[in-house]
Amino acid sequence: MIEDKLLKAAMEVIKFSYSPYSKFRVGAAVESGSERIYTGTNIENTSYGLTICAERVAIFNALSNGEKRILRILVYSDSLKNPKQFIYPCGACLQVIAEFNEEMEILLANGNGSIRKFSLIELLPNNFQINKGKR
Ligand code: THU
Repeated sequence: MIEDKLLKAAMEVIKFSYSPYSKFRVGAAVESGSERIYTGTNIENTSYGLTICAERVAIFNALSNGEKRILRILVYSDSLKNPKQFIYPCGACLQVIAEFNEEMEILLANGNGSIRKFSLIELLPNNFQINKGKR
């Protein structure tokens, strides 16, 4: 199952998380239109605002490898005290997701390995667009 593959990939990439300031590790994995998996983890900076989330790193990783479309993204953290809790992508990452696929499936995995599925529209009912004439 694609969900299991994405979860495994997100769990693996988390070991590369560069998060000395928050000590909060996040792993993300995306499935591209060509059915490949690309991963990303959060990368922090001493100038805190320059930190980039795992979701955006995973998406940009896919795009910089020539992918044009992203079908789904899975987000996972091993740093929550309560393994039942899920983390949701931040607003900035949701806007980036909207840029590349407004129908992207967003999968959240908690510390127990349970998965919840959302559509982008559920998490971000409207996003910023110029001249698309949609809304
Ligand atoms: N972070 C992510 O990687 N993804 C999210 O959806 C929210 C937060 C990271 C940023 C920072 O390195 C750490 O989690 C704590 O905020």
